[in-house]
Amino acid sequence: MTATLLEGKVFAAEIKKSVHKDVEKFIKSQGIMPGLAVIIVGENAASKVYVANKHKACEELGIYSEVIRMPASATKQELLEQIHVLNESTTIHGILLQLPLPDALKHDEAELLKAIHPDKDVDGFHPVNVGKLAIGQEHLVPCTPAGCIKILELANVEIAGKHAVIIGRSNIVGKPMANLLLSRHATVTICHSRTANLPSITSQADILIVAIGKAHFVTKDMVKPGAVVIDVGINRLADKKLVGDVNFEDVKEVAGAITPVPGGVGLLTIAMLLSNTVKAAQLQCH
Ligand code: GUN
Repeated sequence: MTATLLEGKVFAAEIKKSVHKDVEKFIKSQGIMPGLAVIIVGENAASKVYVANKHKACEELGIYSEVIRMPASATKQELLEQIHVLNESTTIHGILLQLPLPDALKHDEAELLKAIHPDKDVDGFHPVNVGKLAIGQEHLVPCTPAGCIKILELANVEIAGKHAVIIGRSNIVGKPMANLLLSRHATVTICHSRTANLPSITSQADILIVAIGKAHFVTKDMVKPGAVVIDVGINRLADKKLVGDVNFEDVKEVAGAITPVPGGVGLLTIAMLLSNTVKAAQLQCH
């Protein structure tokens, strides 16, 4: 058997089309564009590429976008002041602090994320938004897990009553993913590095979501025939090739459907950021 390919570009295009319509409606009714500010601190090469992609995607859809570059030597106080200015701005509706932060600021990460107004928190990382998601009152939710849900919905994968297994317990993907799936009535299991007998659990999954950052970790013996496999991982091999956390060539033989890497979930993450930016703008201007 060969799995159906769940191509990110098809779903991302669909989401962007709908966001574009919302952007036009917003501009017509408010006379201003929805606005996103991305703060990037230091010189992380991967972050620079992500931020440039976010900026370009905003331009395509008529979203105003500002990139605020700060040196790795920036202090917590300087960042808090910058966030405060953006919280007060009437042209900026969404604020994203690009992670990871430079080492010197790492232990301030939680305080900095908490300084972003919850209605402008397009990453969904503020404790208020994390809490709302946990009690089933979704407000602004993290872009990558939201993108995974969109893939399942647009591909007409039934979630209610299914066993969803998530490998990875990060605050950015694993935990919010579990809450999003729970709210949609899946039976949810979260596995992680200390899980005993992992394959015996993953092979029960109707929906398997993998977000651990280990190249080719999931092999076909870990996957139930016909399962829907969503690969969130992006890993660079020694030969520079980008691969996911799932051994795609192996797993596609047993899965019912599978996302590729590259060209899968990553494209949805940006689309959901645009969607969250318009949502944030609507929340602030009604
Ligand atoms: N770095 C990698 N992914 C993300 C993301 O989704 N949000 C932020 N803020 N930083 C990131």
